[in-house]
Amino acid sequence: MKRIVKPELLDLLPPKDLLALGSRRDLRRLNGWMGHSRIMARQLNSAWAAAKCCQVADLGAGDGHFLLRLARRWRGGAPQKALLVDRQALPHGDILHDFARLGWNAEFVTADVFHWLEQTRSLRGVGLITNLFLHHFAPTALERLLQAVAGSATFFLALEPRRSIRAALGSRAVGLLGCNRITRHDAAVSVQAGFNGSELTRLWPEPAGWALQERPAGLFSHLFIAQRNTLDNAPLPFQQPSPRAGSRHNCTRPAGGGASTRREIEGFA
Ligand SMILES: C[S@@+](CC[C@H](N)C(=O)[O-])C[C@H]1O[C@@H](n2cnc3c(N)ncnc32)[C@H](O)[C@@H]1O
Repeated sequence: MKRIVKPELLDLLPPKDLLALGSRRDLRRLNGWMGHSRIMARQLNSAWAAAKCCQVADLGAGDGHFLLRLARRWRGGAPQKALLVDRQALPHGDILHDFARLGWNAEFVTADVFHWLEQTRSLRGVGLITNLFLHHFAPTALERLLQAVAGSATFFLALEPRRSIRAALGSRAVGLLGCNRITRHDAAVSVQAGFNGSELTRLWPEPAGWALQERPAGLFSHLFIAQRNTLDNAPLPFQQPSPRAGSRHNCTRPAGGGASTRREIEGFA
């Protein structure tokens, strides 16, 4: 199957559109049915234990429910900070309080991921995750995104649709699970734009210094793991984007806590 990237309807709808809200609810259920929080939690717990990370960011985080599920399955000390980066300012209710109850200091960042990665100069000491996001991008944009990730993060975990016959059949059946027409359209488009083989590994810009894995996961999904080799892993103080380039932030691993508010295009502070 040739990879084809087409626009997804959810990306074109305003955040508060009823169909968009319904489709985001569908996504939560689909993530559950596909076992994505279980698969990602297992990988995240082990990547976190191996790396000297203290913060985590979810790229294309949507309404935050995916990361919240991971927080509930978390085995380590809470990250010092968790960022939920999405270009849409999505309604998220009380979710930051749910994070806070788990001891997580979570924050929404409304930003285009490309802009955010370029603006946040060093993410060393930060683990990046992403779920159902990379398949949005054609190879050139994807290469640029992975370049920015590899230039900074300590580890990167991506769980995406698998471009396979089984996933294509599954995507045609989401209507039977009660998903709305936006989700039905986007599920099929997502599988066509999904990945298989070692497509993401081939796009990774600097294999030296990284341990890379790419493989099928669950029935319908494709997992990519990039972990910086241990000697390179030492956390660095954050370099804030200008004009705060001089401010320093030591990256240790205290327990998190307390809800915080949404801020426009910000990095870790
Ligand atoms: C299919 S949804 C997945 C949401 C979430 N990860 C989940 O599993 O529920 C993809 C998300 O990526 C966001 N997105 C798409 N392009 C983006 C970009 N360039 N920068 C930031 N977010 C983006 C969309 O707004 C959407 O919330």
